[in-house]
Amino acid sequence: MAAAAEQSAEHFRGQARLPGFAAPRRYDLRLAPDLAACAFAGSVAVDLDVAAPTRFLVLNAAELDVAPGGVGFAPRGSGQVLQPVEVTNVPEDEILIICFNEVLPLGEGTLTIAFQGTLNDKMHGFYRSVYELNGEKKNMAVTQFEPADARRCFPCWDEPAFKAVFKITLEVPSETVALSNMPVIEEKVNGPTKTVYFQESPIMSTYLVAVIVGIFDYVEDFTTDGTRVRVYTQVGKSAQGKFALEVALKTLVLFKEYFAVPYPLPKMDMIAIPDFASGAMENYGLVTYRETALLFDEKHSAAANKQRVAVVVAHELAHQWFGNLVTMEWWTHLWLNEGFATWVSYLAADQFFPEWNVWTQFLEESTTGFKLDALAGSHPIEVDINHVDEIDEIFDAISYRKGASVIRMLQSYLGAEVFQKSLAAYIKRFAYSNAKTEDLWAALEEGSGEPVRTLMHSWTKQQGYPVVSVKLKDGKLQLEQTQFLSSGSTGVGQWVVPVTLCCCSYSRQEKFLFDGKQEDFDLSGLMECQKKDNFWIKLNVNQTSFYRVSYDEELASRLRYAIETNKLSAADRYGVLDDAYALCMAGKQKLVSLLHLIAAYKDETEYTVLAHVITTSLNIAEMMAVAAPEELGSLKKFLIDFLEPFAQKLGWDAKSGEGHLNALLRGTLLTALAELGHEATINEAVRRFNVFLEDRETPLLPPDVRKAAYVALMQTVNKSNKTGYESLLKIYRETDLSQEKVRVLGSLASCPDPVIVREALDFILSPEVRNQDAIFLLRGVCSGAHEVAWQWLKENWDYILGAYSGTLLTYFVNITVSPLATDEKGDEAEEFFKSRTKASIARTVKQSIERVRINAQWVKSIKGEADLGNVIRALAHKQ
Ligand code: BES
Ligand code: ZN
Repeated sequence: MAAAAEQSAEHFRGQARLPGFAAPRRYDLRLAPDLAACAFAGSVAVDLDVAAPTRFLVLNAAELDVAPGGVGFAPRGSGQVLQPVEVTNVPEDEILIICFNEVLPLGEGTLTIAFQGTLNDKMHGFYRSVYELNGEKKNMAVTQFEPADARRCFPCWDEPAFKAVFKITLEVPSETVALSNMPVIEEKVNGPTKTVYFQESPIMSTYLVAVIVGIFDYVEDFTTDGTRVRVYTQVGKSAQGKFALEVALKTLVLFKEYFAVPYPLPKMDMIAIPDFASGAMENYGLVTYRETALLFDEKHSAAANKQRVAVVVAHELAHQWFGNLVTMEWWTHLWLNEGFATWVSYLAADQFFPEWNVWTQFLEESTTGFKLDALAGSHPIEVDINHVDEIDEIFDAISYRKGASVIRMLQSYLGAEVFQKSLAAYIKRFAYSNAKTEDLWAALEEGSGEPVRTLMHSWTKQQGYPVVSVKLKDGKLQLEQTQFLSSGSTGVGQWVVPVTLCCCSYSRQEKFLFDGKQEDFDLSGLMECQKKDNFWIKLNVNQTSFYRVSYDEELASRLRYAIETNKLSAADRYGVLDDAYALCMAGKQKLVSLLHLIAAYKDETEYTVLAHVITTSLNIAEMMAVAAPEELGSLKKFLIDFLEPFAQKLGWDAKSGEGHLNALLRGTLLTALAELGHEATINEAVRRFNVFLEDRETPLLPPDVRKAAYVALMQTVNKSNKTGYESLLKIYRETDLSQEKVRVLGSLASCPDPVIVREALDFILSPEVRNQDAIFLLRGVCSGAHEVAWQWLKENWDYILGAYSGTLLTYFVNITVSPLATDEKGDEAEEFFKSRTKASIARTVKQSIERVRINAQWVKSIKGEADLGNVIRALAHKQ
């Protein structure tokens, strides 16, 4: 560290990270929120270690009033308090530079700061959320600090590597419940207010600190080893917390065993917050959730809601070890937190609910990762972060989904047992400390004796992934890897690819690392079956690795036959389709052959696979609507004929005792048929909906098919007949279940009449829709209305920019821009954002526009497929 004594305040501006010459050890934090006035007062006493001579203390603060008179530094044992000569607040760097007249003595000292702030309504920092109690609107105070908003609540060293102990005290209205990371040790009531003292925490990062004040109910239970777990809800809703409570109890026990370290805190509180920016947040010992991600209502929640709750709870509880106990050293390693928690949440869900086949469902995570990572504007898993505004955007499909996918790849390469043992060693080694990606590889390399570093560097330090092209020639398998890009161009990346393959049967497998560009493999032993008629070969067995495969024509048609004759595992059936779709979009394969492949799934039995066939088909229809609208009718007929038999088999009503996956499938199928305009589905939906409108408890419209019915109903709405739309608004207004509200929001913009879509979009901006929920309506914009939504976004941009920030703001851009499919719209978007870019959305804007270009290119190539019309008509006819 340069001699900080000589530095000037200027020196600290424009830096990515805080200087390291002083580090916090313990915070004594007091906060007094005023719920009615939406303001708070606070004071913090930070015990520091001054490690190099300095006249400055530099720490984070944003949107806080700090009176210079309220700042002092007391060197340990000196008996005096030094007053600063200057306290400079630098808003653009979100720092406070405290300058003293003299050089501070090395060693310990206590910095005290008094401050004031507002409880904002942006869902970050210290904010207010609104709920209803006995018909009256009330404010609660909530914190959301990740990634870098603790500084909006109290001045602090707001970086994950500055871990410290927290002693928190709150002054709150006497009738409220005050929660924080640790249990309460004492409450002193003094008339209308009370002071609540919390136990001191173990050493932790600022982004995990949490404070909540409001009026709540809870349900409670204890894990088998005695940890107290509570689920807090709005008053009257605590029964909806029971399912999450059960999952949490089991998860805490599972992870204690898996990581071989007990849960580090004395209690775990989980709480549903009515206004919440993300899905959930893993604050140490006090996990916050959106209502939809925590609450489960036996009567009105769907199977999909149940699964979401289980997965989110497992994800956040995984962070208590992976993230909270062992914390990333810097945001470059965010993926360690998020990729890992995502992966291990599936591990937990699979243990508790084996019948959900979550590992097959996991493939949807990989697909989303693949999609983003096929853009030139993607980024490596380990990404440079040079400014705080860049952090929000990396909570994306690369950190979460590609991250989880490469962990899965490594686990399946190393074997489950070695992997778990090495992880446990890693957690033990870095507990109460920070780690980098490198540290995890070192532990896994030690535990396995495999070249983990070399293998994984190729996946985490460079962006993108390979497509492995396979040809069969003279009994030899020729492999070649190139970087896959959706634009169809070839990138320069190269990877160490853990290749697995099987031939004619899953008992004939081969496994090796492929790190060259091109190589021939003599697999004559394995491939004796290649003379047989039903010969097939599948790479990336069960889709455990993160690469795509492009088969030569012969091998591809063999695989299609293997699918038709049900020879492949569900994961492989999924993978073949997913790769074919991606290759088609990149112009490497014709749409007609993709359509032929889809037809091969006519006897599909697995939910995830069929759901993916549906998603793929609807995407194709969307592109066809732009590329060849005259063929859209026959394409829809083909798809309806394809889906109808499945729907007939499943029906609208659950069979008694039927499984979770059937429930999921029924909703997905009926929604798709409604979107495709299938009349019988729409009529039946309307019939059932009308009964439901009169009686919300009717068995005719169980939660699993409600979304389908709403979407179907919206197909009947137009500007001269808005009854259906208004009925849905009635349901929205009358329910107090967030999941029901989201179902309605998700269907309102699924209407063929653009006038109605506009009206629905405007509804987003009304006070009836919480800011957290706007994206659900946007996501529901039907395929014909993307340009309407884009126009709407442009017109309302200034308002949106003022009302939203963080990931929510990036969703507006991504959801609205990405589906556009002409160069003209691409130019328009470029032009529009040229003068409106800022660091917090720059990456998303770039990626979204790239997607438009890719769509446009795909549209052009579809237009060039001369025989497309004939093939579609033939396929439609065949069924
Ligand atoms: N740490 C995140 C929450 C978060 C997200 C904070 C973005 C700041 C910015 C949390 O652990 C998380 O990942 N939540 C997910 C849900 C999860 C099940 C994938 C989310 O919010 O979507
Ligand atoms: Zn997470």
